[in-house]
Amino acid sequence: MNSTHEKKSKVKNLSLAPQGRLKIEWAESRMPVMMKLREEAKKTLPLKGMRIAGCLHVTKETAVLVRTLRAAGAEVSWSGCNPLSTQDDIAAALAEDEVSIFAWHGMNKEEFYWAIEKTLEIKPTLTLDDGADLIFTVHSKHPEMAKDLYGGTEETTTGVHRLRAMAKDGALKYPVIAINDAETKWDFDNVYGTGQSSVDGILRATNVLLGGKVFVVAGFGHCGKGCAMRARGLGARVVVTEIKPTAALKAVLEGYEVMTMDEAAKIGDIFITATGMKDIVIKKHFESMKEGAIVCNTGHYDCELNLEDLKSVSKSIREVRPNNEEYTLKNGKRVYVLAQGRLVNLAAAEGHPSEVMDMSFANQFLGMVRLAKEGKKLKPQVYDIDPAQDQEIALIKLHSNGMEIDKLTEAQKKYADDYSSGT
Ligand code: ADE
Repeated sequence: MNSTHEKKSKVKNLSLAPQGRLKIEWAESRMPVMMKLREEAKKTLPLKGMRIAGCLHVTKETAVLVRTLRAAGAEVSWSGCNPLSTQDDIAAALAEDEVSIFAWHGMNKEEFYWAIEKTLEIKPTLTLDDGADLIFTVHSKHPEMAKDLYGGTEETTTGVHRLRAMAKDGALKYPVIAINDAETKWDFDNVYGTGQSSVDGILRATNVLLGGKVFVVAGFGHCGKGCAMRARGLGARVVVTEIKPTAALKAVLEGYEVMTMDEAAKIGDIFITATGMKDIVIKKHFESMKEGAIVCNTGHYDCELNLEDLKSVSKSIREVRPNNEEYTLKNGKRVYVLAQGRLVNLAAAEGHPSEVMDMSFANQFLGMVRLAKEGKKLKPQVYDIDPAQDQEIALIKLHSNGMEIDKLTEAQKKYADDYSSGT
């Protein structure tokens, strides 16, 4: 390891490393953009001298990102960004081969924040977040670290919201790039990634037939749209609940039924929340659900299903399958909660497929490179990625799939700029 920082780790079981390495290789075979960036970076070492603390789901795709950051010359320390999303075999492989990592599946809240603290021992020059817990820890507990930080990146919608609110308050102490807002992130990862991986999580936790089921999606943002699309693809009748009139209207024009959660709660067979807001499913909804209803969440935080409410109206709880708990209500009906209300796609399945994470993490990697180069000159604000980067990533992806696209001719370029030509 090319590091000056002493590598230390805490993971569940190092003997799982060979299995983790095989999974990482599998992901690498599906992530051509990352592999191309890695090959280039090995020659130019754009992150040489950088120390990166990362807080992002420990999956095989994340391992590909970590390996690429290291190939580019960075030292890396890592923690997971959700107590249930860490894959222990991947954590073991990373601990043996690559980095300081503090992550295991099923951490409690105290261990979760302990792990973040441990990653900061690297004295980072860059932070990489998914949900903003790391950056928030720097700001609240170690503000003195900000002076050494070139910048940070943020992966997800919820984290970007949090950081924009901090920037608005003048509380942000170093520049951050909103990876989520790249077109090659939100238009692919959030829609197709969340759609497929959330359905995958539901199926692994339940193995129910989706055909003919009433599938209620709360929130018709990009993630909700993906869930609705994939559930319909498997034959479910999709119902959407929303608070934003335009989003609700889009759902209507896509052919989904739109109604309030009060109404949907009575007819749904399966519920998934994708809103980023708390208290989407509360006591009165649980109480009005049909016998056997299944509820889960795919939003970043576990506040969308109010499980305290559910507990208060339940008389018993038991695990009936991995990631599937049966609540027997005082009214006699049973409600099944998947993955304890945490991200069902990462806790009950493996997260988004490698092919979409390829583009999301290409943005992460290029964001790190940009900050290493220019971070010290940037004001402490939230920055978008360069739109040219989106096109470049999409083009590499197309080429790696063996596809070519047309180019504008000179005459067409001229036409595009010529506002005088009309009918
Ligand atoms: N977020 C959603 N899916 C993911 C994955 N496979 N790896 C890392 N972060 C993710």
